[in-house]
Amino acid sequence: MYRDMKILGIESSCDETSAAVVVNGRQVLSNIISSQINIHKKFGGVVPEVASRKHIEVISIVVKEALEEAKVNLSDIDAVGVTYGPGLVGALLVGLQYAKGLSYALHKPMIGVNHIEGHVSANFIQYKNLRPPFVCLIVSGGHTYLVYMKDYGKFEVMGQTRDDAAGEAYDKVARAIGLGYPGGPKIDKLAKKGNPDIIQFPRANFHDSSSLDFSFSGLKSSVLNYLNQKKMKGESINRADVAASFQKAVVSVLVDNSMKACKLKHADKMAVAGGVAANTCLRDTLIGRGHDNDINVMFPDFVLCTDNAAMIGSAAYFEYMKGVTSPLSLNAVPNLKLGER
Ligand code: KG4
Ligand code: ZN
Repeated sequence: MYRDMKILGIESSCDETSAAVVVNGRQVLSNIISSQINIHKKFGGVVPEVASRKHIEVISIVVKEALEEAKVNLSDIDAVGVTYGPGLVGALLVGLQYAKGLSYALHKPMIGVNHIEGHVSANFIQYKNLRPPFVCLIVSGGHTYLVYMKDYGKFEVMGQTRDDAAGEAYDKVARAIGLGYPGGPKIDKLAKKGNPDIIQFPRANFHDSSSLDFSFSGLKSSVLNYLNQKKMKGESINRADVAASFQKAVVSVLVDNSMKACKLKHADKMAVAGGVAANTCLRDTLIGRGHDNDINVMFPDFVLCTDNAAMIGSAAYFEYMKGVTSPLSLNAVPNLKLGER
């Protein structure tokens, strides 16, 4: 007889401690997120040691809350899904060790999840009928990939960043114009008041014109040079214009490459994943260009874009359906690549 599968998802790869209960990879019964942003923001970025300690302090509370909100007991859980990479090693270890303890005590399987693949899975929660194949743009603080998702957990990388990730560029530029951490949402907001066409920041060009790769470090340097020149000339800076012009440069390359990838694969649908998927300019521009090209562009709700455990519980389910479980000897892999086990 078919039985629903309830997975307890656990996420602690960076500065969010999160636990969630997810049924059959698509239905979220709870998704508790404890963010450390207020702690790290006074340092201008995530301090790894502080992050690990905070995860230790709150993980039990977050898991307990996730179970309570889902109205389930630990004995109702069929498996534990946990992020084991990529991320900060000390932070990853907290969630992973907690998951191992639960798996051992409950005699239930543990499924190690690749955090980047978790981001993609947020779309399976949002769109109940979404099934591979589809093109997916993954844009987070640490990663920028354009992939063709052939099947659950099977990715063909079509393009990736050659240097900084898109979110990293947002955070660095935000710091340079004094917006603080995390910069993405702050640039998003400020850019609405600026003129995106007033400063021409460069888009990376590769020798291989068919490449779908990205590069954001030149753009970041160009923003820093602009700010320095203005300062040296004693001229004032319109931060909203800088934010809007920088954002236009990032978004235009993300959108152009996404459309090219869809064309190459004759795809009529694509999904977007990761923290930068919360960006309102990216959402509006990509949906518009998708509409013009008969491509259905999907974005998860804001809460599912940034780090959360529901997406981990979802990805764990699809791994489990393929027969994947992890041994209790599983270690954290800070630089785990997309599609790697
Ligand atoms: O996926 P995520 O929560 O963590 C990683 O796995 O990296 O992504 C965090 C990144 C940060 O760089 C943050 O600035 C960016 O996502 N971000 C945004 C927005 N919200 C979060 N970037 C642009 N616009 C946003 N609204
Ligand atoms: Zn993430």
